[in-house]
Amino acid sequence: MIHIAVLPGDGIGPEVTREAVACLELLSAERQLGLHFTEHDFGGVAIDRHSEPLPPSTLAACKKADAILLGAVGGDRWNDCAERPEAGLLKIRQELGLYANLRPVEVLQGGQWSPLRSEVASGSDILVVRELTGGIYYGGHRLSEDQASDLCTYTRAQVERVAHVAFRAARLRKGKVTQVDKANVLATSRLWRATVDEVAKAYPDVALDHLYVDACAMAVITEPRRFDVILTENLFGDILSDLLSVIGGSIGLLGSASLGSGGPGLFEPVHGSAPQIAGLDIANPAGAIASAAMMLDELGLGDAGSVLREALEATLLSGCRTPDLGGDASTSGFGAAVRERLQVRSRRDTGLRH
Ligand code: NAD
Ligand code: IPM
Ligand code: MN
Repeated sequence: MIHIAVLPGDGIGPEVTREAVACLELLSAERQLGLHFTEHDFGGVAIDRHSEPLPPSTLAACKKADAILLGAVGGDRWNDCAERPEAGLLKIRQELGLYANLRPVEVLQGGQWSPLRSEVASGSDILVVRELTGGIYYGGHRLSEDQASDLCTYTRAQVERVAHVAFRAARLRKGKVTQVDKANVLATSRLWRATVDEVAKAYPDVALDHLYVDACAMAVITEPRRFDVILTENLFGDILSDLLSVIGGSIGLLGSASLGSGGPGLFEPVHGSAPQIAGLDIANPAGAIASAAMMLDELGLGDAGSVLREALEATLLSGCRTPDLGGDASTSGFGAAVRERLQVRSRRDTGLRH
């Protein structure tokens, strides 16, 4: 039995997660994967029910699980809470040691939904490796009436371990790492550069270059095909990954995996809780489903992840798309269409076997 802790969260989180879980349930039944799901309160909904965004019971369930599937958290209603829903997200990443956040962005062949010209966007295939448990998010925040500070700190060890993740990923891709920083100003960035240069020596087969984050913000839009793996610190990775979503056409398409050393991974779409469209059944569940596929890959369940990804991509390319991609499919309709493809495939495979 494989235990999946499901944290639907707030806003569109429950809507998109429901579709991803339904796809996983179908795959599990058809392929006897033995996936078992339990749902737990997390984020704003947990503040309402337990007075804290990450209740101990939820954290304990996540620690015991084989993987965690998360929707999204946050909403104006909780902005003035002492501990906001987002704080729960930072805490769970830290508690589980999820230091490497992998965020792939790909333009599907035949899928031109980007506002960028097709000759610019087509063929883009980028993996952002974002450091997730250090930097300005975790250095300490102070706020008084007239002054505020947020401290950005990194240790060499923190940079090294995520750099290895990026180089290993590049080996399985196009063999290129672009490390992004602000080394013309920041001391932490200079530590990043020196450390990544050192780590690179163990990967002579991988090409490394460095780019300032401001220049990178321009280059990912003007020449996205030049990139393979982008390795960067926590805050820059957060900003760049939303920017990169423009290349694919919608932030609703992007999934992610947050991984540490050995414990359960956490899989979540890159987008947030999108409160403006919550409850309307129009949110794009593709990012949640893509995250579920990454989870299947990480759990080592054969080609189950690829099968789900193929069904997802085929559904998008068939014209079934939610309004963020210019279509008129509903969240639930899109999820059902992905499952229909999974079933067609399974009937075909079974037919072939008999
Ligand atoms: P957001 O990602 O929720 O929304 C940004 C824009 O993208 C909005 O126009 C929204 O409608 C659209 N969008 C997002 N996901 C979509 C989807 N699946 N389908 C269609 N359109 C989609 O970012 P925001 O508005 O800045 O933040 C809203 C809340 O979410 C805030 O409380 C923020 O802190 C939180 N947030 C949470 C996470 C997370 O849980 N991992 C990530 C980002 C933001
Ligand atoms: C993300 C989100 C979070 C982050 C917020 C909600 C804390 O934007 O996962 O990209 O900044 O990491
Ligand atoms: Mn973000």
